[in-house]
This record gives sequence, C-alpha cells and structure tokens, in this order.
Amino acid sequence: MRKPFVAGNWKMNTDCGSGVALAKAVVDGASALAGGSVDVAVIPPFVYLSAVGQAVSSSGVALGAQDVYFEAKGAFTGEISAAMLKDVGCTYVLCGHSERRHVLGESDELVNRKLTASLSGGLLPILCVGELLEERDASQTEQVVERQTRAGLAGLSAEKVSAVTIAYEPVWAIGTGRTATREQAQEVHAFIRRLLAEMYDEAVAQEMRILYGGSVKADNAEELMGQEDVDGCLVGGASLKADDFVQIIEAAA
Ligand code: G3P
Repeated sequence: MRKPFVAGNWKMNTDCGSGVALAKAVVDGASALAGGSVDVAVIPPFVYLSAVGQAVSSSGVALGAQDVYFEAKGAFTGEISAAMLKDVGCTYVLCGHSERRHVLGESDELVNRKLTASLSGGLLPILCVGELLEERDASQTEQVVERQTRAGLAGLSAEKVSAVTIAYEPVWAIGTGRTATREQAQEVHAFIRRLLAEMYDEAVAQEMRILYGGSVKADNAEELMGQEDVDGCLVGGASLKADDFVQIIEAAA
C-alpha cells in the first residue's frame, strides 16, 4: 500500500519570517503527523531552507528543495548542488517543475541530469510532468506525459527509480483555480502507472507514488486523493496558508 504524501511548494512566495511561522503552524496543526500516516514536506526557497529546516526538525515534516544543479561541485555560479541541499537537511527535491520547463526553458535532458544527480546525492526526487492546455486540447496529454516520464527517468534501474516520486501537474491547472476533475486526474495517473509497468515492472508501478498538483485546495483535496492512483498532492498556493495546508494533510491521512 502506498503511503499518502503531501508536499507544499512555496515557490518564490515567502520571506524568512513568514516561512518559519508557516512551517511552525503546519507542525503544530497537522495532527496526522503524530500518527505517521502521511508523509509531509515543505519546499521553501533555497535561501530559507536552513531556517525552515530548523522549524520542522524532529516534527515529521520533511524539507524539500525546488530545484538542484546536476554537477557535484565547481565553477557554476549561482547553482546549488545535491550535496549542499542534503547538508541543510533536505530530503526531497523537485525536478522539472513546469515553471522551470516553460518559464526557464529546462529540457527533458536537463531534468534527467538533475534527477540523476539528486539520487546520487542521496535526495528523493519528485519528477514533475504535465501537459499544456493546448496539448490537452489537441489530445496529446498522454504523449506529453509519456515523453516527460521516459526522458526524466532515462538510465535509471528499477532499484534506483524506487526512490522517485512522480507529480502530475497539468500546467493549465497550476495557479489558475481550474483544478483537474477527479476523473481527469485518475485517468492520467493510471496511464502513468501503466507506463511505469511497461518501463520497469508491476512492482515498480505499484510502489511508486504519483501525486496530483494544480489548484489543490482544502475543499477538493479529499475527492482527488480518493482516486485509486492519486497518492497525494503537490500543493502551491494553498500551502501558503497553514490552515488550508493542514486540512489537505488531514484529508490525505
Ligand atoms: O508545485 C505545485 C504547484 O505547481 C501547484 O500550484 O498554486 O496550483 O496549487 P497551485
């Protein structure tokens, strides 16, 4: 049975004070953490990882990073390595978030290099995949998600890939308030799981957690996570409000 997993991606939306306060409010508010029935992570901007990490330490809430560079060290001004993220207490790292793909131009190949480096650095990558509205309207959703999944996991053995989580985030649902329906989410999650069985085997397909992201709110989380192949959520805007994020966590437990 896959353990539910809820992660809050704060993007570039907090400062240190608000981030630490938010983290503490989540720790204090999410009773589900005590029972260990759900995995929870907060994913702040790089510069607040240490402060937020201290606020969540020993609480059951894990720390994640929003990106990583694929080189281990060297002359790469402005970049952050997997070892540095591990050093400040990160467990998870997002790879290929749609904003890095479509705003910052990251290719499937770069996403794969980052994901591979994350695994080498002892982090647990969350591979983000999802189609644009025009791709969905052109009935290309499965084609896009398959390309991103195959490319993102390229070169990984079944053993290595067991440390990966996939997040399906339809780009047209991110930040728009236009959440995918539970049927739309289930359809794509089931497709991804069948794809994983084809790429690896049934054990990998059944064990890998597939999160849904894209306008998840306190009032739609339960129906989304009630779907057979939805194992949790990657939450943006609603993770910035402690009460809402706590409600989403409780809905997953
Ligand atoms: O990574 C999660 C994010 O892309 C979803 O954002 O604001 O639609 O929940 P939001």
